[in-house]
Amino acid sequence: MGHTLFGALGLFSLNILLYCGHAQGVPQSVLTVSPSWTSPGDSVTLTCSVKPPSAGWRFFWYKAVPDMSRYSYYTYELLAGGTTGTEQDSYILHGQTHTAGYQCRAGRGDPVSYNQYSYVKFVWSGGVNPAASLTVSPHRLQHFSTESLSLICEGNSAEWRVKKADEDGYVSSCSDWGEMTGSTCNIDIRARSGVYWCESATQSSNAANITIHSVRHPVLTVSPSWTSPGDSVTLTCRWRFFWYKAVPDMSRYSYYTYELLAGGTTGTEQDSYILHGQTHTAGYVCGVGRGDPVFYTLYSDVKFVWSGGEFVQTFIFLHKGINVLFVLTLFVLCVS
Ligand SMILES: *[C@@H]1O[C@H](CO)[C@@H](O)[C@H](O)[C@H]1NC(C)=O
Repeated sequence: MGHTLFGALGLFSLNILLYCGHAQGVPQSVLTVSPSWTSPGDSVTLTCSVKPPSAGWRFFWYKAVPDMSRYSYYTYELLAGGTTGTEQDSYILHGQTHTAGYQCRAGRGDPVSYNQYSYVKFVWSGGVNPAASLTVSPHRLQHFSTESLSLICEGNSAEWRVKKADEDGYVSSCSDWGEMTGSTCNIDIRARSGVYWCESATQSSNAANITIHSVRHPVLTVSPSWTSPGDSVTLTCRWRFFWYKAVPDMSRYSYYTYELLAGGTTGTEQDSYILHGQTHTAGYVCGVGRGDPVFYTLYSDVKFVWSGGEFVQTFIFLHKGINVLFVLTLFVLCVS
């Protein structure tokens, strides 16, 4: 089993290395926007750079237009400057009024040969747009992942989608972390902190920073639990921690099952766990729970201990305690 996993990972990393080797020769377009939060009427500067730097480029500027017929898609519309592009590597948007995404790419030669499009970068508006608004309901100072939270879109459109950008700029849609009913997105336990906004084919709303805290349930013990008049009672609040090893489930693509490590179903009171004599690559998950019998609450992301010096980051989405839905492994080898 271990060998098969290693074989598969080996092939995968070889592919990535080949891909990286190929990509190194191709100049990349990198877009930056400043500022990324605006008030109505502000100007925004888009800057497009080519990596690795070289001369003779013209720059082409695009605005992302939501394609409502396809889940999560955008089409890209050329900004003024059009098909001839601009010589300057920056572009100023005057009087920015609402949330929008932009892309750039550089090209040179005749006929123009373009390099790849940059990643899309959003400029968010905190200001009210009467044609499109996002309401966060209920309004709270802080949100917890187990509480219900609705994101309501209102304005001149029958069809809305709710989007979210995380810290790294990765953009996802309501159905990735909630359920869209009409123009309301009801988030579920998968929702994380980020910038949220509404968009329709022609409008986009104000954006809101929403911070969502994960809930961890503590364990309360009282001692003694039977008292005589005048006794003192100690209340102690603790977490209980559970430790798992990820075991690849070869019968199902990309699935792991989780095997409890020593400490077992009673868990440990310490929040750390020492693995002695680690010899091979393995994934681990921890969980926090409470109660007797233990009612499991939240699990961590899986973290791999990677034997051989490579660095792997794995994101794992756990769904209602029933193992793993989806495992995506990114080899950070590419970046270096
Ligand atoms: C959201 O957070 C960013 C970064 O902290 C801040 O610059 C921006 O003003 C916030 N926007 C709103 C509408 O609160």
